[in-house]
Amino acid sequence: MEHLLQKIAALKAEIVSFQDADAEVFRIKYLGSKGHVKIIMGEMKNVAVENKKEAGQFLNEFKLFAESKYENLKALSNNETPDKLNDIDLTLPADILPLGSRHPISLIKNKIISIFQRLGFTVAEGPEIEDDFHNFTALNLPENHPARDMQDTFYISQNPDWLLRTHTSSVQVREMQKGNLPIRIICPGRVYRNETISARAHCFFHQVEGLYIAENVSFADLKQTLYFFVQEMFGKEVKLRFRPSYFPFTEPSAEMDISCMICEGQGCSVCKKTGWVEILGCGMVHPNVLDNCGIDSNKYTGFAFGMGIERITMLKYQIKDLRLFSENDQRFLKQFTSAV
Ligand code: PHE
Repeated sequence: MEHLLQKIAALKAEIVSFQDADAEVFRIKYLGSKGHVKIIMGEMKNVAVENKKEAGQFLNEFKLFAESKYENLKALSNNETPDKLNDIDLTLPADILPLGSRHPISLIKNKIISIFQRLGFTVAEGPEIEDDFHNFTALNLPENHPARDMQDTFYISQNPDWLLRTHTSSVQVREMQKGNLPIRIICPGRVYRNETISARAHCFFHQVEGLYIAENVSFADLKQTLYFFVQEMFGKEVKLRFRPSYFPFTEPSAEMDISCMICEGQGCSVCKKTGWVEILGCGMVHPNVLDNCGIDSNKYTGFAFGMGIERITMLKYQIKDLRLFSENDQRFLKQFTSAV
C-alpha cells in the first residue's frame, strides 16, 4: 500500500511538470491502453483486502487528476486559453506521506508515566549534561567514594566537573533543592554509562526514577506504590519480591523482582532459570541526601526508586537484543503501534 502511494505521488509530480504541450503524447503515455494509469490500476490486485477501499480512492483521484491535465493540454493545443486555475486542482487531497510509528521505548515510557500520574506523581525533567554535585555528591557519593565505580561515567573533557548523567536521580536532587514539599515526582529520561555495547547493555539507555518525600513516608508506602505499578504494568497475576541491596542514596535499599512472565516461573534464559527478573532498585531516601538538598531530615522522610525502560520494554514485547532499539531498522520499528 505504501509502495503504491509512493508511486502515485511520483507520477503526480511527473504529470505536474509535464512540459510537452502535445496532448496526444500525454494521452498515450498516461491514459492510453498501456499508459501509466492503466498500469497502476492493475496494481490494485496486489493491495491487501483491508486497504483496497482506500487504495481505490487514491487511484480514482489520480485518474481524475491525469484526465484534467489532459483536458488542459488539449485546450492549449486548440489555442484555447486554458483555465489556469483548473490546471492545478486545489480540491485534490495532498499527497500522503508514509506515516511513522511510535518507538517502543516511548510507548512503554508513556505507559509508566500514566500509571504513576494516576497515583498523583508529576513529571520532572532535567539536563543530560550534569555536574558532579547533582549526579554524585548530593546523592551521598562524595569524591573518591568507591560506589562511584558502580556506574562507569562519561566525563566531559573541557571540564572535569561535567559529565553525562548516569541516572535521573540528578533530576530528583534538583527538585529537592527547590524545596517545595511534599514532593511526588517521576523523572523519565536518557542516561549514559560507559559500558561495552552488547545484547544486554548499551552506552545509553532510558530510566524512570521516582521520588516521594513528605512527613511519615514509610517503606510500606514504597511497597504499595510499586505493587500498584507492577499490577498495572504486567497484570494482576504477576508476583513481586524485594531483595535487600545497596545504593549510597537510600537506606535501607532493595531491588525488586517480578515473577518471570515468559516462562511463568518455570525457568528460562530471560530469568536465568530462577523464575524471577529484576526490574528496579529502590529504598528510603538516605538522611544525608535530604540534608545535602536542604530538606530537614528530622521532619521528612521519603522513598525513591529507579527502573530501566529498556528492561521493561524487552520483557513486555519479548525483545532479546537491546541494540535493536537504537538501530533505526524500519522492519523492527514498524511492529509497534500501541502499548501492550
Ligand atoms: N539511581 C539508581 C540507578 O540508576 C536507581 C535507584 C534509584 C535505586 C532510586 C534506588 C533508589 O541504578
